[in-house]
Amino acid sequence: MLIKNSSNGFVHPLASEITPASVYLGRRELMRRMAGGAAGVALASWAGRSAMAQTAATGKLAPLVGARSAVAGAVSMDKVTDYKDASTYNNFYEFGTDKADPAKNAHTLVTSPWTVAVEGLVKQPRNYAIEDLLKLSPQEERIYRMRCVEGWSMVIPWVGYSLANLIKKVEPLGSAKYVEFVTQADPKTMPFVGSRVLEWPYVEGLRLDEAMNPLALLTFGMYGQVLPNQNGAPVRLVVPWKYGFKSGKSIVKIRFTDKEPQTAWNKAAPSEYGFYSNVNPGVDHPRWSQASERRIGEDGLFAKKRKTLLFNGYEAQVGQLYAGMDLKKFF
Ligand code: MTE
Repeated sequence: MLIKNSSNGFVHPLASEITPASVYLGRRELMRRMAGGAAGVALASWAGRSAMAQTAATGKLAPLVGARSAVAGAVSMDKVTDYKDASTYNNFYEFGTDKADPAKNAHTLVTSPWTVAVEGLVKQPRNYAIEDLLKLSPQEERIYRMRCVEGWSMVIPWVGYSLANLIKKVEPLGSAKYVEFVTQADPKTMPFVGSRVLEWPYVEGLRLDEAMNPLALLTFGMYGQVLPNQNGAPVRLVVPWKYGFKSGKSIVKIRFTDKEPQTAWNKAAPSEYGFYSNVNPGVDHPRWSQASERRIGEDGLFAKKRKTLLFNGYEAQVGQLYAGMDLKKFF
């Protein structure tokens, strides 16, 4: 059930659809925090704490923490997905097409040294060593819902900064209209590069104004640690209002262009995967409905599917990017 706010025309989920704090904190813990007079702070920091608590279970990766993001909409209060699910149920076709393959196979990815080339229609093209890219802007923690085109979703605490911060630094020319993201394709370290399921390297793209939206996250970590290889180390994109495949992993090149980039999935199946790929319950995939989703970790016998929200629930933040566009045509 959705309600429309008449002042801005945006659609928001009903408050009753947001998990009540008493459910995810446990009633006793909530009472304790409220008695401490810090309910608001407690609520705002809950998800971060839960992420940090999960860090302990994640093993040996280097810590990477970010300050809680102040960007509007950047911190979902949904229950965070278990680290184990987020790091063992993956799509990273360079390491195999089964969900369990990336966690098994991605240990061969070499993430250091790593350089990201920023090139094309910019005043300041530059090769960034990953260490310099990491330091370009303060790290923030963002808790985003991620909706995969296959019909499942997760809620993940990412660490990174707005891609816009990098874009401003390299100063796009007036002619730049799109940003292309080219990812690593090394057959020596990525066993399925060369398989015929996709054309390699895996390429994704955004319109420049989409890339400038503060929610588009250049991502270096999750759950308070650097990214595990299977989640796209050492740097990936996370675009929470688009289907998960728009979030390219293990990026090596960011190129500014005046033409819409040819993306890997669009090339593989143009009628199924458009350039925009905004999460949209009203536009079915040609072979299945996109109206609902299964939240990973909630898949017990009686778990109900969730309704998928337009723009994955981020309409207030990104809806204006698509004003006047026919989203059935530009799917
Ligand atoms: N990036 C690369 N390089 N290769 C891939 O196969 N899969 C995409 C995206 N980025 C993919 C990729 C898809 S289909 C999804 S749903 C997300 O990564 C999954 O991210 P996650 O495994 O961290 O949840």
